[in-house]
Amino acid sequence: MQEPLIARRSPYAVNVEAGETYAWCACGRSQSQPFCDGSHQGTGFAPKLFKAEQSGPVHFCGCKHSQAGVTCDGSHKTLPPAASSLSAEEQMKRFEKDLKEKDWGHQPC
Ligand code: FES
Repeated sequence: MQEPLIARRSPYAVNVEAGETYAWCACGRSQSQPFCDGSHQGTGFAPKLFKAEQSGPVHFCGCKHSQAGVTCDGSHKTLPPAASSLSAEEQMKRFEKDLKEKDWGHQPC
């Protein structure tokens, strides 16, 4: 399965209303983070519903890698650094590692 995009590397603090249901973006493509805007179409991802039991702040996961579902569990702290923060040499090492480890779906010519 495809990996979700990292919308951001920190949670979104949102004040929710008791009894309301919220559709959390699981694919990371929504322009209305942390909630779904329909951008997941064709990605294999679907939004996850969150029903607020009480009013108040909820820290919705922004990195889309939380093991706790829609809320932040700190997993964003363990993600590899963004490619843009790596040196050219580090980016090349990551690229070479990805080439060896990932199935890119390519067929030999
Ligand atoms: S923002 Fe995803 S686990 Fe914290």
